[in-house]
Amino acid sequence: MNKPYILEFNKIGASQLGFITVAEAHKNVPFDIKRVYWTYYTPQDVIRGGHAHKELQQVIFAVSGTIGFNTEDLKGNKNNFILDSPEKGLYIPKLIWRDIQFSHNAVLLCLASELYDENDYFRNYNEFIKWK
Ligand code: TYD
Repeated sequence: MNKPYILEFNKIGASQLGFITVAEAHKNVPFDIKRVYWTYYTPQDVIRGGHAHKELQQVIFAVSGTIGFNTEDLKGNKNNFILDSPEKGLYIPKLIWRDIQFSHNAVLLCLASELYDENDYFRNYNEFIKWK
């Protein structure tokens, strides 16, 4: 079963000039990128996520601020990941439940393997853990 893991991306540049980080399909992102979205202005006391996907794979960045993830797979394996730097990405395969918490200045950028499809979501945790 696939597991979520942190990907380290290159940081091109120098501290005097600033940096650039590049994500490319099938080079450092393990799928075709069909959709990109970003979230911002999420209050610090809000927990987002609360879902899993049937097919979607994602690589998620905190391009600003800090974003914490609690993940759980169908075997009950739980993990915690912190994105605290723009050159770190979190790969999330299909069938991973996630809860997400944001620092006040966080901007989340997501590279997604599929177009948006509400039918791809498990939004009910009990339905997810019973999925075979
Ligand atoms: P959701 O994926 O539940 O976001 P989060 O996990 O950050 O809480 O999406 C929030 C809302 O945005 C939901 O009504 C669906 C909508 N949405 C789209 O219309 N298209 C998209 O590509 C995404 C990611 C969300």
